[in-house]
Amino acid sequence: MRFSSGPAATTPFARGISDTQQVQQTLTTSANDLIVLPITFLSALGYITWAACKVQGAPIFLLGLAVIPVCVLPLKVIGKNLYRRAKQAFSAGGDVSEHLRENLSAVREVRAFGLEQREITRFSEGIRHLFGMQMKVVKYSAILSPLIEFIAVFGIAGSLLLSYRAQTPFSTVLAMIAALYMAYDPMRKMGKLQGEITRGSAALDRIEQVMLEPEPISDPSQPKTLGPVRGEIEFLDVSFAYGATAEESVLHKVSVRIPAGTTCALVGPSGAGKSTFANLVPRFYDATSGAVLVDGIDVRDLRQADLRAHIAVVSQDSFLFNDSIFNNLLLGRVGATRAEVEQAARNASAHEFISAFPQGYDTVVGERGTSLSGGQRQRIALARAFLRNAPILILDEATSALDSESEAAIQRALQKLVVGKTVLMIAHRFSTLRDANLVLVFDRGRIVARGPHAEVYRANPLYRGLYDQQQIG
Ligand SMILES: Nc1ncnc2c1ncn2[C@@H]1O[C@H](COP(=O)(O)OP(=O)(O)OP(=O)(O)O)[C@@H](O)[C@H]1O
Ligand SMILES: [Mg+2]
Repeated sequence: MRFSSGPAATTPFARGISDTQQVQQTLTTSANDLIVLPITFLSALGYITWAACKVQGAPIFLLGLAVIPVCVLPLKVIGKNLYRRAKQAFSAGGDVSEHLRENLSAVREVRAFGLEQREITRFSEGIRHLFGMQMKVVKYSAILSPLIEFIAVFGIAGSLLLSYRAQTPFSTVLAMIAALYMAYDPMRKMGKLQGEITRGSAALDRIEQVMLEPEPISDPSQPKTLGPVRGEIEFLDVSFAYGATAEESVLHKVSVRIPAGTTCALVGPSGAGKSTFANLVPRFYDATSGAVLVDGIDVRDLRQADLRAHIAVVSQDSFLFNDSIFNNLLLGRVGATRAEVEQAARNASAHEFISAFPQGYDTVVGERGTSLSGGQRQRIALARAFLRNAPILILDEATSALDSESEAAIQRALQKLVVGKTVLMIAHRFSTLRDANLVLVFDRGRIVARGPHAEVYRANPLYRGLYDQQQIG
C-alpha cells in the first residue's frame, strides 16, 4: 500500500546510490591486492619449479602444488552462490529503504489511520529478511578462506610426509614449506578478494539495471522548434491507457480543437479522464494512439524542455521543496527578480500571509510544505504559475483548497492571468468555471458534450445534473 499522494519517487535510483557506495569501497580495497597477490603467487610458483629442477629432494614438493587446482572448485561454486545471495541481499536492502522512505513521507497518514503497529511489524519483517540475506552472504564469503586453508593444509602435510620418508634435508624442507606457504597465502587472499568482487559485481548489476531502465518519454532525435507559442491545442483521435492493454483505456479516440486564447473548462464525474487529458499536453504521458498537437506540432516532435517551458501547471497537490518560500516561488521562472516574485505572490493573494511570517519570503517551509496550510500551498503554486506567465495554463483543481474569500480574490487574479492564454481548467466547483468560453464534458474517457456553458447546459443531461446539484447545494 502506497500512502504518498505525489508521483512515486525515483526509487530504484535511490536504491542504486547505496549500491554505488558498496562498489566504490570494494574497488579501493581490492585494487592493490589485485596486483600484489598474483605477483607473490607467481614468484612462489616460479621458485618451487626452479628448486624442483635444481635442488635434490625438492620435486616432492611439487605434489604440494597439486592441491591448488582443487581450490578452484569451491571458488567457483561458492562464488556463484555468493553472487546470487548478494543480489538478493541488495534487493532486500532496497526494499527496506523504500519502506522507510514511504513511512517517513506519510507519517501523518500512518498516525491518522492508527497504522503504527502494522508498519512496525512490516518494517521488522523487512529487517529480519534483510538480516537473513546478509547472514547468507556472510556465510558464503566467510567460508571461502578457511576452506582454501583446509585444502592447503592437506598439500603441506602430504609434502611433509613424503619428504620425511625420502629423508629430504631439513634446510630444503624448510625452504620449500616457506615457498608453498607463499603460494597458498595469495590463493587464500584471492579467494577472499573474489568474494568481495562478487558482491561488488552484484551491486554493479543492480546499478546497471537502474541505468538501463528505459526512459518512458524521450526526446526526438531531430526536434522541431516552437516559435512564439500561440497556444492552440488539438487532440486527434487520442486514446490513452495507463496499462499495457487497450481494454484499460482511460481516453477513447478523443478529438477536440481548443483555439489559442480559449479558457476551457473540463468537467465530468470523478475518474472520467479529465486530469489524464490535461496531462497529455505537457507530455507527462504519451498518447497510446492518435496525436496531441500544440500550435499544429505533434508534442512528440518537440523537446520536452521546450514544450514545458510554454506550459504552467498547477495541480491539486503541488509539491513544495524543503527550502525558503522565495526559492519555492522561483521555480516558476528561475532567474526572476525579487520584485517579480513578490508581484506574482501578490497576484496569487499569497503576499499577505507570506509577509506575516517573521522571516517573510525567507521562511523555510517543511518537507512537502508541511508547515503551510493546504490553501497557502495552493496559493504558492498559483504564484509560480503567475511568475511563469506561460501561454498555456493548466489548472487541475488549483483552487480546491481555498476558502470562498481567497477563492474570490484569486478568481479576480485569474481573470487577469488567463487573458490571451489557453487555459485548461478542471474544477469540481462550478463557480470557478464561470469564465470558461468552452466547456468539455467528460464521461468515461469520452467527450460527450462541448460548447459554451449555456449550450451544453441545454443539450447535455449529465452536465445539467452536475451543475444543478451544485446550485442547490
Ligand atoms: N497514474 C495512473 N495509473 C493508472 N491509472 C490511473 C492513473 N491515474 C489515473 N488513472 C485512472 O484513469 C482514470 C481517469 O483518471 P483521471 O485522473 O484522469 O480522472 P479525473 O477525471 O481527473 O478524476 P477526478 O475528477 O477525480 O480528478 C481513472 O479510472 C483512474 O483510476
Ligand atoms: Mg483529476
